Amino acid sequence: MRTAKPKQVDVARVAGVSQATVSQVLSAKSDFNVPLETRQRIFDAVIQLGYVPNELARSLRTQRTYTIASVIPDIANPFYPTFERGVQDIAEAHNYDLIVYNTDGIESKERRCLDALLRGRVDGVIGVFFHLTRADLERLPERDIALVLLDQPRGTDSTPVDHVFVDNAKAASAATTYLLELGHERVAMLTGQHETLSGRVDGYRQALAARDAGFEPIIHEAGDFTEACGYSGMLELLRRTPRPSAVFAANDVMAMGALVAMREHGVKVPEEIALIGFDDIPAARILTPSLTTVSQFPQHLGRRAAELLMDQLESNTPIPPRHVELPFELIVRESA
Ligand code: RIB
Repeated sequence: MRTAKPKQVDVARVAGVSQATVSQVLSAKSDFNVPLETRQRIFDAVIQLGYVPNELARSLRTQRTYTIASVIPDIANPFYPTFERGVQDIAEAHNYDLIVYNTDGIESKERRCLDALLRGRVDGVIGVFFHLTRADLERLPERDIALVLLDQPRGTDSTPVDHVFVDNAKAASAATTYLLELGHERVAMLTGQHETLSGRVDGYRQALAARDAGFEPIIHEAGDFTEACGYSGMLELLRRTPRPSAVFAANDVMAMGALVAMREHGVKVPEEIALIGFDDIPAARILTPSLTTVSQFPQHLGRRAAELLMDQLESNTPIPPRHVELPFELIVRESA
């Protein structure tokens, strides 16, 4: 025979408090006024009775799922797991679960993901989208799903959405300027998806123009921010005459591919060709040679993005869109 499952009212009886107080403490959203000793009694009663909060009942009551989604283009790029670490820390602290969608940076997958999100499985979304338009994304806030984007708002962007970002152009310019100051005369760039993160290309071009370097930018549009593209792009740069003396890769994963290509061709880094990446993924410092790169502090980015989302979810009034710029740092190691 099944015994009746303990209910919140049972917890209240055992702890000697009202059911409202139990509900307040277990939702952990507004328990500030409940003394520590009372909270402890409630938790003891929960354990004693084996009480399991009914999440379904809770979400039906509040019309919330207490789940957020993070949409990323490449789960295999170590930048994103580090970013998610930050998102999860904040989500957990606010009692939200986290679902991660990987789109591979492909438009059809981004659309499929948007459809799933619009079906109401989550309360909020933190996203990196390469293809969806602002009009597509505005459908989320229209359905009362909070949204934070991890990218730079475009020039005249009026999308009523929070953004968290590093100034990609400024950061890429700092990386390129560093190479120029080392005395490199032929600095090439391996780019990722040109249209989406063109800020990095702009920064590279601006740094060359500012130095009046007297040579044309060498841009190889490797494509999709993967190690394979960094590898094939570097092979093509190695076939050029004269070869570049330094390469700025649009992210660290591409820089790793470039490093493999150079190693296979006996090219010494940095003696023959210097190399710089972007992101500062954990592997950057353990590569041989260790990789000079631009850190975006991905965990911090994730935390800030999640904080903005939680503000939206927990505020009783609409919050005007915020554009939060976070710092970057050039990390000098052995490769340049
Ligand atoms: O997803 C491509 C790139 O965008 C990542 O490597 C990271 O730099 C992010 O900003």
